[in-house]
Amino acid sequence: MLIDLHPQPADMTRLVIEGMGRSPKQLPAWLLYDAEGSRLFEAICEQPEYGLTRTETALLEARAPELAAALGPGVVVEFGAGNARKVSPLISALRPAAYVALDISADHLAPACQALQRRHPDLPVLGICCDYSLLEQLPGHPALEGHGRLGFYPGSSIGNFDPAGAQALLRQFHRLLGTGSRLLIGIDQPKAKERLEAAYNDAAGWSEAFARNLLTRLNRDLGGDFQSADFGYRAWWDAERGRIAMALVSQRELEVQLAGRYWPFAAGEPLITEYSYKYAPEAFLALAATAGWQGAAQWSDPAGDFALHLLVQADSEQHRSDP
Ligand code: AVI
Repeated sequence: MLIDLHPQPADMTRLVIEGMGRSPKQLPAWLLYDAEGSRLFEAICEQPEYGLTRTETALLEARAPELAAALGPGVVVEFGAGNARKVSPLISALRPAAYVALDISADHLAPACQALQRRHPDLPVLGICCDYSLLEQLPGHPALEGHGRLGFYPGSSIGNFDPAGAQALLRQFHRLLGTGSRLLIGIDQPKAKERLEAAYNDAAGWSEAFARNLLTRLNRDLGGDFQSADFGYRAWWDAERGRIAMALVSQRELEVQLAGRYWPFAAGEPLITEYSYKYAPEAFLALAATAGWQGAAQWSDPAGDFALHLLVQADSEQHRSDP
């Protein structure tokens, strides 16, 4: 079953106008994930330069029994489920009461839930199409009643929010999941600049196509008149801020129409399509603590490229360390 709470066109227009008014211009990363963007992102995940998905998947498969034991019983709620493949080993080991997938792309979510249902025929599965960062609460549904909630946020997607946004999102998960819940979250680690830049600028050109698809989407959905050829693509590591920045850079001075307004671009001006922050374990746990979460366990691949953190609510009775 699928519940559709996708942001309305008016919300998209407001967010785009707000983003285009920033300096530098920056649009919400979820706009990248229309049906074509979701397909292009899946291709990125298979590129040799982009090890994140392979490493996390291998970690989840190798450690599934331990992860399941640490998580305990409940309903698994996956934020940004995408193709919902990563969760499968966890579901096999955990046998949760139900699985709820939240994702921005309805076109992607429906087949993902159907495929997951085929792999786990007895599992109650619910898909909710939404921007989970803006959702007030999880909708009332029998699949969600009477069980504790186990949040699952793989893929280091929290890195696509700036630190203040990441803190707000972790608070949001706290609120959506409820008292006493747990959160298993995947975090990409900082690593050599060359490796990071190659991962976001793969030789086959999928990263660039993913960014350019944003222009196609803006032209189609928000009356834009972007000419893709007027922009180049760049991805670079900003060591000071601990993030990869991805941008479409105007090749000349130009003006673009979008969302009923005109937007000037100087030659060489970036339109930031995404940031991807990387957090070493201590830095991530410090961020999580500001949102009321406390680290209970962590798992990493042998090379230390990626970490899975199990977070518990710092104020939860069950995990209170003081007597
Ligand atoms: C979804 N997210 C974690 C990806 C990342 O690595 O930041 C998005 C991405 N964009 C381009 N390549 C990957």
